[in-house]
Amino acid sequence: MATDLDENTITAEAFCRLENTPDPRLHEIMKALTKHLHELARELKLTEDEWMKGIQFLTAAGHMSTGSRQELILLSDTLGLSQLVVAQSHSRPKEVSEQTVLGPFHVEGAPQLPSHGAEIARGSVGDPLLVSARVVDADGKPVADAVVDVWHAGADGFYDVQDPAWKLDESRLRGVFHTDEDGRFSYWTILPLYYPIPTDGPVGEMIRATKRHPYRPAHIHYRITHAGFDPLVTHIFVDGDEYLDSDCVFGVRSSCIGHYPKHEAGTAAPDGSKQPKAFYTNDSTFVLEREHAANAAE
Ligand SMILES: [Fe+2]
Repeated sequence: MATDLDENTITAEAFCRLENTPDPRLHEIMKALTKHLHELARELKLTEDEWMKGIQFLTAAGHMSTGSRQELILLSDTLGLSQLVVAQSHSRPKEVSEQTVLGPFHVEGAPQLPSHGAEIARGSVGDPLLVSARVVDADGKPVADAVVDVWHAGADGFYDVQDPAWKLDESRLRGVFHTDEDGRFSYWTILPLYYPIPTDGPVGEMIRATKRHPYRPAHIHYRITHAGFDPLVTHIFVDGDEYLDSDCVFGVRSSCIGHYPKHEAGTAAPDGSKQPKAFYTNDSTFVLEREHAANAAE
C-alpha cells in the first residue's frame, strides 16, 4: 500500500523504499534512522511549525560550519552523542589509556616539531607549562616514533582556529611530535584554563534555551598514532578544575585527569632550564593498545 498512508502505516512503506540498498550496513542504519525519527515524531506529536524550526536549526548549523568551525561536531558533542559513540567503540582493558572526544578544533597538518624543546605557545599569554610525556604499550615498553598531535585553548579560552586571521603555518598551541627512541616527547606551552564552547551559533542558542552552562574543564588534546596500535584520541584534564563534573560535552574520564603542579619562580625546570617566572609541569604516560587486541575486543 503506497497511497493513503497515515502517521502509522508510513513507516513500513518507508522501509520498503530502502530494500534495494546494496550496502547491508547502510540499509541497517537508514532503517533504524527512519524508525527512530518516525517514533520521535509520533511520541512528541511533532507539529509542522516545530519540525520547520528543527530544519532551520540544522540549516543554521550547516551554514555556520567551515573548514575551521565545525558546528555539527559541536552539536553531536553537546548532545552526548560523540562520547556515547566513543565509549561503545573502545571497551578497553584497564591498563591502556582511555579515549575521549576529538572535539571540533583539531586540524590536520599542524606544524611538525622536534621531540623535545619546542615552545608551542608562540606568543599566547599565560602561565608557562612544561609537559613531559611518554608513550608505551600495555607491557610498559616504549613506543618510539609514535605521531603525537597536540592542541589546546589559550588562557583566553580560544583555540587559534577561532581567530579569523588564523593560518595553518602560524598555528599556536598546537603541533605534531614524534616520540624519541624512549617513547618520550616534551614541550613548553601555557597552562590551559576552562573555556566555553563557541556559543555564537545555533548550538549556543540550544545551550541558552536549556539553561545549561557552556564550559569545558581545562585540558590538552592528544591524538597518538603508530602502525600496529589502535589510535588513541584523548585529553589530559587539569586536576581541580571546577567543571570536571559537568563538562558540557560529557568527555571527562577520571583516568584522564592529570596533575599540573606549580613551581616557584627561579626554580630549575625538569629540562634543566632556570625559569624566571612561576611555572607548571605535567608528566603524562599514554598507554596504547595493540591493534590485534583492540580488534579482538570488538
Ligand atoms: Fe578542547
